[in-house]
Amino acid sequence: MCGIFGYTGSKTNAAEVVLDGLKKLEYRGYDSWGVSVSGAKGKISVCKNVGKIGNATVKTLSASTIGIGHTRWATHGGVTKKNSHPHLSCDKNISLIHNGIIENYDTLREKLVTQCHTFISETDSEVAVHLVEQLRKKYDLTESVRKAFLKLKGLNALVVMESDSESLVAVSNGSPVVVGFGEHENMVASDADALTSHTKTVYYLKDSELVYVNKDTVTLFDAITGKKKSFKKIVLEHGEKASQKGEFKHFMLKEIYEQPQIITSIANDTTMPDRKLAQIIKESFGTYLVGCGTAAYACLAGSYLFSKVAKTHVNWAVGSEFGYHLDFLKNKSLVLALSQSGETMDILESVKKAKTKKATLACLVNVYGSSLFRESHYNFMVGAGPEKAVASTKAFIGMLSHLLLTSYALKGSYEDGKKTLLKASKSVKDLLGKDGIKSIKKLARKIAQVEHIYVVGRGLSYPASLEVALKIKEMSYIHTEGFAAGELKHGVISLITKGTPCIVFAPHDETYGANISGAMELKARGGYIIGVSNKDHEVFDYHISVKDALEGTIIPNVVFGQLLAYYLAIERDCDPDMPRNLAKSVTVK
Ligand code: AGP
Repeated sequence: MCGIFGYTGSKTNAAEVVLDGLKKLEYRGYDSWGVSVSGAKGKISVCKNVGKIGNATVKTLSASTIGIGHTRWATHGGVTKKNSHPHLSCDKNISLIHNGIIENYDTLREKLVTQCHTFISETDSEVAVHLVEQLRKKYDLTESVRKAFLKLKGLNALVVMESDSESLVAVSNGSPVVVGFGEHENMVASDADALTSHTKTVYYLKDSELVYVNKDTVTLFDAITGKKKSFKKIVLEHGEKASQKGEFKHFMLKEIYEQPQIITSIANDTTMPDRKLAQIIKESFGTYLVGCGTAAYACLAGSYLFSKVAKTHVNWAVGSEFGYHLDFLKNKSLVLALSQSGETMDILESVKKAKTKKATLACLVNVYGSSLFRESHYNFMVGAGPEKAVASTKAFIGMLSHLLLTSYALKGSYEDGKKTLLKASKSVKDLLGKDGIKSIKKLARKIAQVEHIYVVGRGLSYPASLEVALKIKEMSYIHTEGFAAGELKHGVISLITKGTPCIVFAPHDETYGANISGAMELKARGGYIIGVSNKDHEVFDYHISVKDALEGTIIPNVVFGQLLAYYLAIERDCDPDMPRNLAKSVTVK
């Protein structure tokens, strides 16, 4: 889940170009960063540091027309300058950046040490640069990188440059690399968003493809056979503006405010992709929704929606667990994978295993051309636009919107689904109004210093509770647990003491009565009841007003939680866009 970026072209400030690209990739990992260029007299120079890029510069690096850079989320080896990328060969003539995990790094390292290679880091990545250096004694750079790559076990991407050369070599298997085509300049990056300030013409490397890049040519190879391949460029729809904060202080807040429009555009999409998804589900022998983290809670919500609206049974599973219990799959089973990034390793591993059972694979992703997108028989786009904050907000709401519409399409009443979505969009807009924000900000101030928060709901408010608890944990680092409200009396309620904040979702649907009783039980034990409902109630110590929207009420309920999580982060001086220890897409197991 690291960020990688490479530039070769006619600009002579390659170091700045690379650093600017890394800043757009930092959400993928921000433990440390580094840039290397091939500078004066061809010697490679490197600038590295731990922590976020912030206002750092690369002024110490000489003018150059070629450079590579990396933002790291540590897997092998601690967060230190030595472990940060780029890594250099012993002779300092080759510089390499890496994304992924080299599963056989130890055996490779042992062999390289016997060939007198000196290692200065604890990382698996450094093995790759010494492997290339060893092979470079016999082959040109492209062939050395190709042969080195074939020795690596695991899913990896490498970008390599050498001194005295204007060319980059990139290779990928299961870890994203996108090529950007400019005017007398070309780039590679782990995410197209880092390229859009230069170009919208790109090519997504497929698994086991290698690309040779200089300022005027891009040549594609099959990394296994070494044979040249043709390829088709694509032009991206969204430009750079979509990936900028604009007037917002943080990407997370910007992306929360984009949600009413996203819901409305999904509802009004005349191509009606959700009708096609409904048809695929109808024809399948069982459907399994899989996702990780926030996307997993979208899957759980989907199982409720398909049951309530379409009287259709679908299973759901956490992506990292699905691989251990998918042995029942048949060749007409449908696996519908949900993923914002389309790069989450836990999902990719599970769906590849599902494909060996001949299951049909569909995906609902927010990144065009992502690994999951390319792995699937059917791909559906969330259409929420680039999501830069580590916390998934608009992509999650987009997933819920598609699942709700699909459930209505399955029922044969698509228009009712649209109406429900538009109601939900209006309810979100109300929540984002002055009064709604004021009320949530005041609540955040009130509970910012607590140690524990509990979030409870029934029915569709149960996945809402899980997602809101995750948001609060991710953003504010406060221990927060989401529960099925009915589970409280089966043990959880022992945790409630005087003043414990309990968020109770109480939409006016069939769960209302039981939720109010649950709130009474919590209050009787000292709980501070935060009622999320379209009307106040005497049991609530604090009321957040959320207008009902039938099955769509889960959407404004979750948006309340997103906003609370955001304002708790602000109250506690946490970075809402780049929370500690996290990264935007978890491309390692
Ligand atoms: C969401 O706020 C989290 N950052 C995380 O749980 C995320 O949903 C999970 O890692 C899955 O990511 P994906 O949707 O890109 O697959």
